[in-house]
Amino acid sequence: MTRTDAGFEGRLQQLAPDLLRTLERVYGAEAAPAVADRLLTIGRAAHDVRPDELRALDERRLAEPDWFQRPGMLGYAAYADRFASTLRGVEDRVPYLRDLGVGYLHLMPLLTPRPAPNDGGYAVADYRSVRPDLGDTHDLRDLATTLRGEGISLCLDLVLNHVAREHAWAEAARAGDEDKRGYFHVFPDREVPDAYEATLPEVFPDFAPGNFTWDDELDGWVWTTFNDYQWDVDWSNPAVLCEYADIILALANLGVEVFRLDAIAFIWKRLGTDCQNEPEVHELTRALRTVARIAAPAVHFKAEAIVGPADLPAYLGVGEHAGKVSDLAYHNGLMVQVWSMLASGDVRLATHALQGIPQPPPTTAWVTYVRCHDDIGWAIADEDAWAVGTDPSAHRRFLSDWYSGSFPGSWARGLVFQHNEQTGDRRISGSLASLAGLEAGDPQSVARILLAHAVVLSFGGLPVIWMGDELGLLNDPHWADDPAHAADNRWVHRPRMPWPTVEQGRDPHRITAGLRHLLAVRRSLPHLHAATPTEVWDPRDPGVLLVVRRHPSGPLLAAHNVTGERAWVDADVLHWLGLHTDGLRDAISGTAPSLHEGAVPLEPYAAAWLHDGG
Ligand code: GLC
Repeated sequence: MTRTDAGFEGRLQQLAPDLLRTLERVYGAEAAPAVADRLLTIGRAAHDVRPDELRALDERRLAEPDWFQRPGMLGYAAYADRFASTLRGVEDRVPYLRDLGVGYLHLMPLLTPRPAPNDGGYAVADYRSVRPDLGDTHDLRDLATTLRGEGISLCLDLVLNHVAREHAWAEAARAGDEDKRGYFHVFPDREVPDAYEATLPEVFPDFAPGNFTWDDELDGWVWTTFNDYQWDVDWSNPAVLCEYADIILALANLGVEVFRLDAIAFIWKRLGTDCQNEPEVHELTRALRTVARIAAPAVHFKAEAIVGPADLPAYLGVGEHAGKVSDLAYHNGLMVQVWSMLASGDVRLATHALQGIPQPPPTTAWVTYVRCHDDIGWAIADEDAWAVGTDPSAHRRFLSDWYSGSFPGSWARGLVFQHNEQTGDRRISGSLASLAGLEAGDPQSVARILLAHAVVLSFGGLPVIWMGDELGLLNDPHWADDPAHAADNRWVHRPRMPWPTVEQGRDPHRITAGLRHLLAVRRSLPHLHAATPTEVWDPRDPGVLLVVRRHPSGPLLAAHNVTGERAWVDADVLHWLGLHTDGLRDAISGTAPSLHEGAVPLEPYAAAWLHDGG
């Protein structure tokens, strides 16, 4: 018996033409109709078995599409095992998340990976089962249900650029199955790989140089952008698209609401390019999203595209794709600029770079964050640096020196990740607190940590906290003890949750308290809804980042002093915004700032969120 409802049929009518047009642009007019039919069959089958509770969620999301944009929304990201051992353990910790104000939980890869090494789970061997030591699919469904009941949306990774060499598709390909061989990019000799290599960068030059790996069983070179055991799938094969649509909807029917599209920038290959950000990436995202909108509209996508500022906006949709690709996307550009500002004590480069990034579509949101589980790569566009009179290479070198602690006077204690001898790139691993000076005992580190959070909480988007940053956890000195981790120093900032500290309420540096305060203030400010436009104003004082959020209830000026000295918000800025009134309030301090000749003083590393409270 079919359980398809009127909502489904309506969405199908409305969206099927768009799906077809999208597929035509990728696979051509001849092939597209059959692919569309296949996808819609998958969508209908998934919708038919979609539990009533999730259909009700679909309706709620359609009625209130801004749920993830609200100022009260906070994200949290963690490895399930490092946070609470198992999925059941995570369920037990839901009160902690609620208490922090979390409404969105990204649990790091938890589907069955290949045995270690598996890139922290990003080498998936089976998308339809859960890593056995964490639990099983029943536990996943139960956890999603509990979270949903508490108003927390569950986000999981959808690793769709590659599968593990041990995934059934790859095993079949290795066993000689031609159909499955067609799921991968396989070449008999070096001719084509070499042609691609001429323009391809290396993601892991240290432990996985090159982008292709010879496999004896395949008797060919297989594309492996990341590690040699992560085989890139071939999205020019429509069967691959159909497989992933089916996987998404199966997980959605367990209660997964948001899919983090891992390494999405890489899924389309084009000779003569760096094989990132190709137009088909966005078409394919759109196709997947359209199917999800029809069958399970509560599903949302979060793009993980750690790319340069010029390529970022496309992940939330520009032009024809506006609002039709991912709903959320990591604001890698902001994250990089936060660290750049803190090291240089200067906001001019950040201001210029951020001003160049267009407003995202109003139905979408950036994921704003200071740290995540990955390294920090200095994605600063050369043009942006030159525009403010900075030599880009020298600045990137400075940032690597600063954050690895080798620059004289540096308070940071990071590690160099993936030193690329050819380009000179040195990315950085390290926990937020260690990078911000707490490990080195710098007296201004706590203010710096809170300031970094203030920037991402006010900038516009869905802020996501990386597990442990709310406690100011330092680098894990034992990160290399696990032999499966020893080659990958990103584990230095993936510690275990110190529950005894939490339970005893220890907060010696008052980082948790400071962050909780900022979160409470954020919740109270309607200006901070993600749909409220974000303007970055030219700095008057080069040490103060000025972010303006113009809301119908009046403007909010979020001013952030990125230096260790006292700085100023100039009177003219307040005048321009009409804020130079008796009603001027700083929402963070909860008081009227004391003006000096019309200017607002900002203590070292202080933030003020100024608005008319009168
Ligand atoms: C993403 C993940 C990263 C992983 C890579 C390959 O960038 O965040 O941890 O190494 O994809 O899957």
